[in-house]
Amino acid sequence: MVIKSAVVPVAGYGTRLLPATKSQPKEMLPVARKPIVQYVVEELVSNGIERILFITGRGKNSIENHFDHDPELFRMLAEGKKQDLLQEVDFERLKTNFFYTRQRLQKGLGDAVLCGENFAGEAPFLVALGDSILGLNALSRAVAHMAEVYDDRHASCVIAVEEVPRGQTRHYGIVQPEKSGDGVFRVVNLVEKPRPEDAPSNLAIAGRYIFSPVIFDMIRRVKPDARGEIQLTDAIQLLCDEGRRVVAVKLSSEERRYDIGNFPSYFESFVEFALADPEYGPGFRRALERLLGKSAATA
Ligand code: G1P
Repeated sequence: MVIKSAVVPVAGYGTRLLPATKSQPKEMLPVARKPIVQYVVEELVSNGIERILFITGRGKNSIENHFDHDPELFRMLAEGKKQDLLQEVDFERLKTNFFYTRQRLQKGLGDAVLCGENFAGEAPFLVALGDSILGLNALSRAVAHMAEVYDDRHASCVIAVEEVPRGQTRHYGIVQPEKSGDGVFRVVNLVEKPRPEDAPSNLAIAGRYIFSPVIFDMIRRVKPDARGEIQLTDAIQLLCDEGRRVVAVKLSSEERRYDIGNFPSYFESFVEFALADPEYGPGFRRALERLLGKSAATA
């Protein structure tokens, strides 16, 4: 089955990226030339997604503005014969429909996904976190592969996972594989942000999920955690508890996830994407080598 609809939660406060996110959404921070959320949209479209629902919140209007048609800007670029730039900001070319709804209270990722219930209807759908880019320049086919796995395994849920250093398990949802953790495998347990000593593996949930609509009933059954948040990970655990198939797809190294939710990983992602820029990458590489040479000399 081709997955056509995606829910993209972008309502989080972005507290780990303050002060950069005080008055702008973290999803709008640039990584090299584009805001993060534009990479996410381009990735989804290239994987066959035709409808995207953003779950927004207060202060997230610039995301809607970014994907809107802007006649004045278009006229200016056309008159200035800037066809290449015109192409880049013409989101009509993507042939995707954008929808927006607000999560009025910050009650966690599970609650945000629940806001997409009417949108998803009876069909399986994708959840793509708006602060995670898959693959350099978002050139990832992981979502299309996950959709095949969803069909082949008759799954209720397929999750993208990646290995993280043991010391970082407390930043992610961690899965426990049934057997080996290579390629595609069934998940028997999940823990949201465990301490390294409690983590059942080092395989972290990597921001892309395919769900059967049955997930909405599970989310409704989840009790809020200590911070009052409804965790999506807990809803997936309920699927496992009911004996439903929850399958993980391990991302290959070329499809790795760029997590923009914290500064170290944001800095690294920016530099890697800037180095890959066809026009400015080579010059930036020289500048970086100069800077690194200087810091080695003063160390
Ligand atoms: C969320 C999920 C977590 C997942 C992570 C991926 O956490 O709850 O399971 O591993 O996204 O980025 P958050 O980063 O919103 O705290």
